Amino acid sequence: MSKTIIISNRLPVQLQISDGGLSAIPSVGGLATGMKSVHSGGESLWIGWSGLTDEDIPDGLSETIDSALKEHGCSKVRLTKDDVDGFYFGFSNRTIWPLFHYFLEYSEFELDFWDSYKSVNQKFADAILEEAGDDDIIWIHDYQLMLVPQMVKEKRPNATIGFFLHIPFPSYEIFRTLPWREEVLEGLLGADLIGFHTYDYERHFLSSVRRLLGLDVSFNDVYLENRVIKVDSFPMGIDYDKFHKAAKKSSALKGKQRSDLQIKLDEHKKSAPDTKLIVSIDRLDYSKGIAKRINAFEYFLNKYPEYKEKVRLIILAVPSRSNVPQYKLLKREIDELVGRINGELSTVNWTPIWYFYRSLPFENLIDLYTSSDIAWLTPLRDGMNLVAKEYVATRTDKTGVLILSEMAGSAYEMNEALLINPNNFEQQADTLKQAITMPKEEQIARNMFLQNRLKRYNVEVWANEFMNSLKTQGQDIGTYV
Ligand code: UDP
Ligand code: G6P
Repeated sequence: MSKTIIISNRLPVQLQISDGGLSAIPSVGGLATGMKSVHSGGESLWIGWSGLTDEDIPDGLSETIDSALKEHGCSKVRLTKDDVDGFYFGFSNRTIWPLFHYFLEYSEFELDFWDSYKSVNQKFADAILEEAGDDDIIWIHDYQLMLVPQMVKEKRPNATIGFFLHIPFPSYEIFRTLPWREEVLEGLLGADLIGFHTYDYERHFLSSVRRLLGLDVSFNDVYLENRVIKVDSFPMGIDYDKFHKAAKKSSALKGKQRSDLQIKLDEHKKSAPDTKLIVSIDRLDYSKGIAKRINAFEYFLNKYPEYKEKVRLIILAVPSRSNVPQYKLLKREIDELVGRINGELSTVNWTPIWYFYRSLPFENLIDLYTSSDIAWLTPLRDGMNLVAKEYVATRTDKTGVLILSEMAGSAYEMNEALLINPNNFEQQADTLKQAITMPKEEQIARNMFLQNRLKRYNVEVWANEFMNSLKTQGQDIGTYV
């Protein structure tokens, strides 16, 4: 029987070795949370990096790791510390991530990073070639693995290969600054179907293919000598039922059954019933606009001082890529900003910002979503932003207001949210006021549309549409080879 092979840099679980032995924690980020639902529902094998380097793994533990991963339907690609430094912290996160999110000034064009990226992509390709049977469908994910499609296609011309990019594909003017731009495009074109979250990313990609490789592009097909590659947009959904049901379940819990966090949030609401809670949840990443958001919050409190003591901003910043210098700097900037603003504005009864630098278990995320009157998400660039969708899905009584940056891929599907430009403080201050004072009926009317759309186009539908399109494309492979 044919199976689907999912390949991404991160597996859905990350392994850790401590005094207590081997443990697995869930991976953070849209790719992992989204694909986890797809993976758990069917016959698939997920190949990726376990989070441990060869140097971390003591003699004799490799097999234990293999069987731990097998329980999760996963198989590992072995990486050394040098691989992780050059490929992951280097080319993936100091070259491609900033460039594709339009942070050109952060992008480093280092030959050593590129060499490491190529050799690690080859390791992933080899792992696929080892695992994949002739009838299997290969689905490669994200910007860390853009050379893998071609590496696999070269060895297995008849394999059906899909690729999905979870981050933006930038405009040609940005992409063409990459010294290895042709190689990256050629790597991707090893796939039979290439998917993006939005139509704009798809157009940017096709424009780069035409202008840099001089290939024939007609509508969303790219013509090679012996193959046609389909390029399309598939906006990723969430596991709507999982979030909605978890929110329902959590609100039904009584007394001590409720989580410690929920008890604290309840106490807070009881003691200050007029205070609105505004939540923001992101990995601590410069693309998410967290520092700007904090500045915009201060601007709002100065513009509308009547809301002092009447609103509280809860920031959950999940540690991410902390070996990359820009992330270290950002962490310091946010620590300082929160400290300064809380120091200047707090009163005996009120701290304007609650700041958590950690990841939270799923149940606590649900507590935060369901207890917050407003979700305020301000990425400067974001491939999709699933947090926006998750917040709406948990609003079981349909109240709550989503304020969302128009620079997030999800904004294209979430017109009923209050859409803002994260660089415009004036607009954000006014939008916060609008959200705080929005009548319940209006909140419900907006969320009704949003929830219906999220329910209809959930992550399962997203994956099925991609797979069906890939299978159709796969049927033609023999015709061209
Ligand atoms: N998330 C998580 N643990 C946390 C905070 C967030 O697993 O402590 C999840 C969140 O539920 C969401 C994902 O991380 O599914 C973030 O995805 P998003 O698309 O918003 O951004 P990304 O991190 O992929 O850039
Ligand atoms: C984004 C990327 C994913 C990545 C995730 C977490 O969602 O699209 O590929 O896994 O961030 O980042 P990390 O570097 O920790 O894997």
